[in-house]
Amino acid sequence: MKLMLTATLGAAFLFAAASLSPVAAAGKDVFEAKGCGGCHYTEGPAREKTIDDQLAKKGPELWYAGSKFQKDWLGKWLADPKPIRPMKFNSLTEENPGDHPKLAAGDAAPVADFLMSLTSAEVVAGEVKPKNNPKGRLIFSKNMPCSGCHQYAGRKNEIAGGRSGPSLAEAGVRLNPDWILAYLRKPKLFKPVKMMPVFVGLLSDKDMLNVARYVAAFKPKKKK
Ligand code: HEC
Ligand code: HEC
Repeated sequence: MKLMLTATLGAAFLFAAASLSPVAAAGKDVFEAKGCGGCHYTEGPAREKTIDDQLAKKGPELWYAGSKFQKDWLGKWLADPKPIRPMKFNSLTEENPGDHPKLAAGDAAPVADFLMSLTSAEVVAGEVKPKNNPKGRLIFSKNMPCSGCHQYAGRKNEIAGGRSGPSLAEAGVRLNPDWILAYLRKPKLFKPVKMMPVFVGLLSDKDMLNVARYVAAFKPKKKK
């Protein structure tokens, strides 16, 4: 019985490894060679149960990167990373030093491919259609304290909002809309120890959908 289980797991592992496209496999090699795994988990969620596990890495978990990010944004960001969090990751007092390792363009594309292959089955595709809806705006800016912790583009396209959470000003090009909803539904699965309040029980599923659609419609400020 035990043997059979091992054999099955082995087969599942082989299958997963074999299912990486050649480009993604090349990206995985770059990811390992550049030491990205020293700061980022690419396996989860079982490995991230404890606070110690989580704090052992200096960067956010990437095991669901393919469900969280938009591929175009990811490839560009890896080649030219700009701060996403105003504050340093896991800190409320230190500014983000903005010193993320940069990849050559030729490496960024395959690494983006590799990261896009890391997905979570908890993210249901096609549920969230981005839309600047008044209900979502009301929740984000008034009924719930979202804007107190997250930056967004204000009426005159200026950056408004709080600085303790990741900036959402470019959420519409950075994040997969369906992941935003999945995260609101199951915050602990994706970010087990982060300081974002849990809205399960405070927001109905319908209102989570409304605010997810609203955030997913955020676009970067117009600039050159
Ligand atoms: C010294 C630690 C460190 C190393 C090494 C590192 N990162 Fe990061 N990474 C971070 C931190 C900290 C952030 C958060 C940056 C921010 O919010 O601006 C981050 C953010 C990211 C993000 C966005 C994740 C999110 O949820 O916002 C991606 C994608 C990423 N890193 C990929 C990589 C890749 C690929 C490499 C290897 C070339 C790498 N990182 C190397 C620390 C690191
Ligand atoms: C008390 C501050 C706080 C409030 C209030 C708050 N958040 Fe957050 N939020 C955070 C923190 C902290 C994180 C995770 C930080 C990290 O990964 O570095 C986060 C993460 C997120 C993310 C994922 C961003 C990313 O790039 O990983 C989204 C989307 C988000 N919040 C939306 C919301 C919405 C919508 C609301 C209101 C319903 C809200 N937040 C309220 C602090 C807050």
